Amino acid sequence: MIAVAIDGPAGAGKSTIAKQAAQNLGFIYVDTGAIYRAVGLACLQQQVDVSDSKTVAELLKKMDIRIIFFNGEQHILLNDADVSDEIRTEKISMAASKVSAIPEVRSFLLELQRNFARTDNVIMDGRDIGTVVLPNAQVKIFLTASPEIRAKRRVAQLAEKGEQADYEQVLADIVKRDYSDSNREIAPLKPAETAIPVDTSSLTLEESVRKVTEMIKERIE
Ligand code: DC
Repeated sequence: MIAVAIDGPAGAGKSTIAKQAAQNLGFIYVDTGAIYRAVGLACLQQQVDVSDSKTVAELLKKMDIRIIFFNGEQHILLNDADVSDEIRTEKISMAASKVSAIPEVRSFLLELQRNFARTDNVIMDGRDIGTVVLPNAQVKIFLTASPEIRAKRRVAQLAEKGEQADYEQVLADIVKRDYSDSNREIAPLKPAETAIPVDTSSLTLEESVRKVTEMIKERIE
C-alpha cells in the first residue's frame, strides 16, 4: 500500500489539492479534518462546551462516526446522519479546532484514520498525518500559504456559495486557528522531519495540483 500524508494549516488548499491529486493517481482521498468537525458538531448538537474535555470525552462514547465513499466522494456520518455539508461552517471550524486539542478525542480517532491506509492507497490530509497518524507514509508534504492569501481564498470560496464574509474577520479566525493548532500540547501542527514544503501562495490551483501530483509520482515510481 502507498500512503501520502499532506499536512498544513487551514486554508492552504490541502483538501482541494489532495482530492484532485488522488483522482489523478487513482488513490482514495481521506479528509481527516471532517472527522474532527463531526466531533465538534456532535458537541454543539448536545450543547456540550467544546473546552470541557471531560464532558467531551464522555460524549465520545455515544458518538458513532463513520466515513463512507459514495461515487468516490467522502461522506461523513454522525450517528447515521450524513453531516458532510453541515460541518462546513465557521462555527464548526472553531469547535473542531477546540476539540482536536483534547487527547481522548485524538486517540479515539486514530485507528479510524489508520484503517484506511491498511486497505487502500491513500492521500490523507490533516495536521498530524505525517507525524502521528501515518509516520511511515512514503510521501509527506507540508502545504502552506500566507495567512492573507488563505483568508482571501476563503472569502472567495464563501462568496461562491453566496455567503458574504468579512476579510478581516476571516483573517483573524485563520490566525487564531493556526495558533491553537500549532501550539496545542498533543500532535501539534508541524512539518514531519522528512516532509517536503510546498508554498502555494503564488501558485494557481491547477499549478499546485500539478506540482503535488508530480512530486508524488516521482517518489513512488
Ligand atoms: O482541515 P480542517 O480545517 O477541516 O480541520 C478542522 C480542525 O480539525 C482543525 O482546526 C484542526 C483539527 N484537525 C486536527 O487536529 N488534526 C487533523 N488531522 C485534522 C484536523
